[in-house]
Amino acid sequence: MVNLIINGKKITAQEDTMILEAARAAGIDIPTLCAHESVSRSGACRLCVVEMRKGNRSKIVTSCLYPVEEGIVVETKNERVLNVRRLVLELLLARNPESDVIADLAKKLSVTPQPRFTMDTDKGKCILCRSCVRVCEEVVGVSAIGLSRRGSQKTVGPPYNEESAVCIGCGACAFICPTGHIEMETTEDKRIIWGRTFKMKTCDVCGRYFAPEDQLKYISKITGVPLKELAVCMDCH
Ligand code: SF4
Ligand code: FES
Repeated sequence: MVNLIINGKKITAQEDTMILEAARAAGIDIPTLCAHESVSRSGACRLCVVEMRKGNRSKIVTSCLYPVEEGIVVETKNERVLNVRRLVLELLLARNPESDVIADLAKKLSVTPQPRFTMDTDKGKCILCRSCVRVCEEVVGVSAIGLSRRGSQKTVGPPYNEESAVCIGCGACAFICPTGHIEMETTEDKRIIWGRTFKMKTCDVCGRYFAPEDQLKYISKITGVPLKELAVCMDCH
């Protein structure tokens, strides 16, 4: 176990715990956008910055990626931290002016769009955190989407922005996306995501549409559970 201090509070945490988790376990909130417990961390949004002091040296670190250490002193909302966080939000606001999530976070810290940053109007709400890519690869296991192009042109989606043959329409990417960038429309017998339309399956018990057929076929294939045993929705199980 490791002893540290966060915002003046003495805390004990397991080795290898990230500062973010140690803080949250102690009831100390640190704002985040891209850190999700289901996928590996990218450190993309930088919103979770904190000040970490070791001996007489201090630095700003991303708390979702920085593990606890014996004797460190952490500040999550002193003026230095808040200034960095405000700058991060100014940049996020400029890059994704359409995102309500970012606008709400900015409002909480009294951050307004800054004329010194040019507004990007072609990025939608994507902060390029890769959580969608990681969940598709690490949790679902199909790798239907990825990042393409370089620099300011970078975007997320299926290769060449064409319909993905391996996508199963599960929607995990849309559920994990912190900013709501990924559009998914589910209407009764159809789900549309990444430009492809998936047929939904009805529950054998209640008759309600509950999952894309391709998703059920994929689960059956990787688990060996017969398809007919997967034809019942969560509510009727
Ligand atoms: S679409 Fe969402 S989850 Fe994927 S990289 Fe962009 S912000 Fe992150
Ligand atoms: S939450 Fe830590 S960098 Fe995004």
